[in-house]
Amino acid sequence: MKTTERVKLDGGTEKILARKGSHVQRMFDRIAGWYDFLNHFLSLGIDRRWRRRLVRALPLRDGMEVLDVATGTGDLAFTLLRRCDCRVTGMDVSREMMRVGEKKARKKGGAGAVTFVEGAAEAMPFEEARFDIVTVAFGVRNFTDLEQGLREMWRVLRPGGTAAILEFSRPARQPLKALYGLYLYHLLPLAGQIFSGDRHAYTYLPESIRRFPQREAFTAIMERCGFRHCSYRTFTGGIVSAYTGIKMPEAKKD
Ligand SMILES: C[S@@+](CC[C@H](N)C(=O)[O-])C[C@H]1O[C@@H](n2cnc3c(N)ncnc32)[C@H](O)[C@@H]1O
Repeated sequence: MKTTERVKLDGGTEKILARKGSHVQRMFDRIAGWYDFLNHFLSLGIDRRWRRRLVRALPLRDGMEVLDVATGTGDLAFTLLRRCDCRVTGMDVSREMMRVGEKKARKKGGAGAVTFVEGAAEAMPFEEARFDIVTVAFGVRNFTDLEQGLREMWRVLRPGGTAAILEFSRPARQPLKALYGLYLYHLLPLAGQIFSGDRHAYTYLPESIRRFPQREAFTAIMERCGFRHCSYRTFTGGIVSAYTGIKMPEAKKD
């Protein structure tokens, strides 16, 4: 069994955290204790299915090295482990979120199965080409610098490796579009405030979903950051999109 490891923050990570990162980090540190409950409650448990669907589409094999960026309390990391006997590293800026993840791992009897590492997506504490698969669930929207985070994901992937990203998007069709707006702007902030006492965190969520690039706009950004064969699928009427892209092996010289 692997031991839980804490990597000391390097200069680059610290600089990132000093800006927007520190605000996001504090927000997740504050809501960490409520995060899982609210996540499953507010999504009626569908979030688990979204993560499973993302993982099912991955070319996972036993022994692979997988990095789950913005791992939070580790739900995607645990889903990955259920699918293959791979080595999963979960990285996040919020210690509190990962502390909850470690507790869950101990409860599941798999303490140390996920290696939790503190670090920012924009300046990852890993060498180039270390991972076969890199994933993010509901994290890219919070990155301080989206393109820098995606370039880092590309850097730490081995050539031929796959990046997979799950993120909220906006349903395109009525009546789901209107119903979802009602839920996102009214019900969610209210429920978030009642349970976690943090209205800000749950008004930040709809705002960040509204402003975030989705579907073709997002795959275009992935391409700009080096990924190829970028594509997406939508789940639950477009509430969530799953994106994938490949780091192409370099063309062989004659
Ligand atoms: C909405 S939670 C998602 C957690 C988990 N992936 C899941 O599926 O439940 C977003 C996570 O992203 C982390 N995060 C935000 N910005 C980050 C960054 N720049 N680098 C690494 N983690 C970040 C937050 O601390 C938080 O734990």
